[in-house]
Amino acid sequence: MKNNYLNKTFWKSKIVLITGINGFIGGNLAKQLCSYGATIIGITNSGKKNKFLEYEKILNKIKLYKVNIIDKKNIDKLISKHNIQICFHLAAQVDVNVSKVDPYETFETNIKGTYNLLDALSRKKTVKSIVVASSDKAYGEYPISQLPYKEHFDLKPIYPYDVSKAAADMISKSYTTNLFNLPIIITRFANIYGPGQLNFTALIPDCILALLKLKKFTPRSNGKNKRDFLFVRDVCDLYMCLSYNLYKDKNLSGEIFNAGTKQGYSVDNVVKKLCNQTGNQSLYQQIKKEFSNKKTTGEIQHQFMTYEKLKKFFGWFPKYDLDKGLIETYNWYSNFCSKYDYKKFLDRKLKL
Ligand SMILES: NC(=O)c1ccc[n+]([C@@H]2O[C@H](COP(=O)([O-])OP(=O)(O)OC[C@H]3O[C@@H](n4cnc5c(N)ncnc54)[C@H](O)[C@@H]3O)[C@@H](O)[C@H]2O)c1
Repeated sequence: MKNNYLNKTFWKSKIVLITGINGFIGGNLAKQLCSYGATIIGITNSGKKNKFLEYEKILNKIKLYKVNIIDKKNIDKLISKHNIQICFHLAAQVDVNVSKVDPYETFETNIKGTYNLLDALSRKKTVKSIVVASSDKAYGEYPISQLPYKEHFDLKPIYPYDVSKAAADMISKSYTTNLFNLPIIITRFANIYGPGQLNFTALIPDCILALLKLKKFTPRSNGKNKRDFLFVRDVCDLYMCLSYNLYKDKNLSGEIFNAGTKQGYSVDNVVKKLCNQTGNQSLYQQIKKEFSNKKTTGEIQHQFMTYEKLKKFFGWFPKYDLDKGLIETYNWYSNFCSKYDYKKFLDRKLKL
């Protein structure tokens, strides 16, 4: 595998825009790019200091702007002010539970936010590489016999979050045509987990908080649905790989890349693994009972992805398996929660 993208000389001279920098993946990516010397500009819609960036001691190394991605005037202003060369578009309303009760905000942020940004970037001559985060959810539901998902599968989502990601995905593709010639790669990744995911409605942080005895686990399905889990460090590495390669070769524009580990784990199985790793069998037995009383609604049943295309193009493959990633994740939360009160990060609309 060529590791040319792990190149300080390249990143040191780059001005990189990250939308959604206050979020889970944006924070991890900012941390990684800082260590390579990139100049980072971040967009967030939150006025609060990001605890992950603060905890990882990189807040003062980046330039943060508080702008709502749907605010066209201010997005235009910000982008015209900086000679951005590389952009990662990660900002989105990602909470599936929020999208079920407030689809409007999800559509506004995820769809309008994407064309606001791309429209502004299309007037910027300095931009050579844009990575847009779509999602495995954009595909919608396929029978398990046809899984893992492949890049050529049609997008046929029905639930609000899934539709919003598919719409943003297709809009991005249209900006790569010879009408606009924007250099964009679109990513459709599996579920991502790891240090810094401060959305505690997500399965793994929710279960870890229960293991740390900080709250009760809230089952949101019967535990039988299968998901593929990518570790966030693999994701950051892959984002660097994709943006570097697109920067060097504009013929990659318009390409779509899936990433996952090829393996589907049931939600029940993930909880079991975490409980086993931390020696808490009784919690698993309790959660198992709660799964049996729960119905899954408004969510795709089974999803897992390959990385075949990534391997073929760049020799890329994920370096973390679920067991290794879960141990690192548990240890990170254990340290983080000893410093910060997790309740400060709870969503304003959803009471846990
Ligand atoms: N986490 C996953 O499992 C996963 C999997 C596949 C794809 N993705 C995609 O990756 C991207 C990042 O996901 P994440 O897990 O880091 O989510 P996150 O919620 O942690 O981060 C999203 C960020 O977007 C920002 N944001 C939301 N609305 C905004 C608005 N109106 N204006 C400006 N900023 C706004 C939030 O403040 C937050 O910083 C998303 O596009 C998501 O769809 C995530």
